[in-house]
Amino acid sequence: MAGDEKRRVRDSEAFKAVFRPGERFRESEVYRSVVRHPRPDTPRGRAMTSFHNFFLHLYPVKVPREVLSFRSTFRLGFIATVLFVVLFVSGMYLMFFYVPAVRDAYFDMHEIRTSVAFGQFMRNVHRWAAHLMVVVVFLHMLRVFYSGAYKPPRQFNWVLGIGLLLLTLALSFTGYLLPWDQLALWAITVGTNVAGNAPVLGAEFREVLLGAPDVGGAALLRFYVLHIYVLPSLVILLLAVHIWRVRKDGFAIGDREEVAEGEMGGGPSEKEVLADARS
Ligand code: HEM
Repeated sequence: MAGDEKRRVRDSEAFKAVFRPGERFRESEVYRSVVRHPRPDTPRGRAMTSFHNFFLHLYPVKVPREVLSFRSTFRLGFIATVLFVVLFVSGMYLMFFYVPAVRDAYFDMHEIRTSVAFGQFMRNVHRWAAHLMVVVVFLHMLRVFYSGAYKPPRQFNWVLGIGLLLLTLALSFTGYLLPWDQLALWAITVGTNVAGNAPVLGAEFREVLLGAPDVGGAALLRFYVLHIYVLPSLVILLLAVHIWRVRKDGFAIGDREEVAEGEMGGGPSEKEVLADARS
């Protein structure tokens, strides 16, 4: 009886208006014209929704509860991905006001800081996100190492991860020259001199990177093209394969017996739903 009364209150218009304002929207014609099927309320229905949605299909239909706990990954890979998106968007904004030429670069940077709308803010967002990404990617690598996720079958993803770490550092290094101030100039001079002293192809590598014997206009242009086009494209490519591999291999913590046998909730497994959908 108490249950009936509860349900009656929950179904009342007044209760929905206060505690579930979204429900009215979901019942509207506009919402139904976009989302055509009813909300799935069976395990199989929920699994099918996951398969047929572009964004949700990135996630497995079912995982042991413990795999989702914060401490299994500290969400560090996810945070690194978000930081990359922040860098991409804020970098695009800065590109509207920056010309990679010796005559313009420093003054453009000065203009961005003093006269461009949201210029100082966007520049700071870009700089802080860049510093943070280096730290977060490094912490992510430590987490992966200490949870043994570099071992088979995830060794290929570890190698991809090393590629992503090097690309993150290269993005940081190439971005450093772009303000074209004294700090940038001398930091890149020192950095490329160090690279130039590497054995075998060090000197050649330095020259290809700078486009001239010293840091100058050619180096600025090369670093710019690497920074805004070549390196981000490679990150996007490697990251797509990296996340695809995580999806295929599952999280390392899920391999542990006590986790794999842990609570999963009812309903069919991902394999069962897939077989069902294909039959
Ligand atoms: C741009 C840099 C990187 C991004 C955006 C990134 C992104 C991700 C994401 C989203 C995951 C899913 C789990 C999580 O959130 O922790 C993941 C897992 C993983 N990452 Fe990365 N990653 C990066 C760099 C690295 C590096 C430097 C390594 C190691 C050298 C690495 C190796 C791995 C491995 C082996 C997994 C699977 C972990 C497991 O099964 O528990 N990643 N990465």
